Amino acid sequence: MTPRFLMTDPAWFDVSYSINPWMRPDAWATHRKTEAIAASAALRRALESCGALVEMVPAVEGLPDLVFPANAAVVLDGRALLARFRHPERQGEEAPFRAAFERLADWGLISEIVELPAGLTHEGAGDGLWDETRQLFWTGHGPRSHRAASDVIGQVFGRPVVPLELATEAYYHLDTCFRPLSGGEVLYYPPAFTAAGLAAIEAHVAPADRIIATDEDAQAFCVNAVCLDRTVIMARAPERLAQRLTARGYALAEVDLDPFILSGGAAFCMTLRLDLASQPVLALQK
Ligand code: ARG
Repeated sequence: MTPRFLMTDPAWFDVSYSINPWMRPDAWATHRKTEAIAASAALRRALESCGALVEMVPAVEGLPDLVFPANAAVVLDGRALLARFRHPERQGEEAPFRAAFERLADWGLISEIVELPAGLTHEGAGDGLWDETRQLFWTGHGPRSHRAASDVIGQVFGRPVVPLELATEAYYHLDTCFRPLSGGEVLYYPPAFTAAGLAAIEAHVAPADRIIATDEDAQAFCVNAVCLDRTVIMARAPERLAQRLTARGYALAEVDLDPFILSGGAAFCMTLRLDLASQPVLALQK
């Protein structure tokens, strides 16, 4: 199966408001736009070098964070549960992302589009990570997504869900501080979680599979990574993290994503995987 991703044309990317502590409109300079366009293209090339196909969402003026399609929906088995954003600054993205999914449905890349119940916010794969090894969803709640949305994810996809409460505004989406890797390890940043969240992680992930991100790794947005088979695509990594992943048999593809880090995002949230499929439950019981 060819991996398929959604990305967004960065033509209108900008840091013009602040809804997380990384976003500083005053520090944003216009030349960054050219860098951002190059960085997005480099990320796309990194995905394509791994054999992936990338579909693009058109840019929309006035919606700078549309470049983070991980926040558009949770997708598994051809079903897309559309996101609902917490902040008014991003709510305008809901319509263009819906249109993008309708197009994907026309092309046969998505089979079903599902809405969240009224009154619930949930910011897509940013707070809903599919763990292929454990065949479950890890969900984040607190800063952006409601806890109750985790139950909806369980019902919509018929798979187990482990909800994790996020403890800080700096790590406001689960994908900024938690990344299951293809070999079963989980790269995560403990200070981003409440004690209950950490206990839930430890209950599901064996000590040998816990890769603890340092402050430096988390601040470099390296936990926000895409893992494709044995390649991990991430923002420029601290050397020690690169060594630790290489020692476990992963190849690292580093991309300079600095302009997007100024918005509080990097490789994982600039993409959305469209072809994730769960294993049949019968196969799991064997
Ligand atoms: N500026 C965006 C926001 O605060 C960044 C989103 C990054 N997305 C993610 N899934 N981490 O909403």
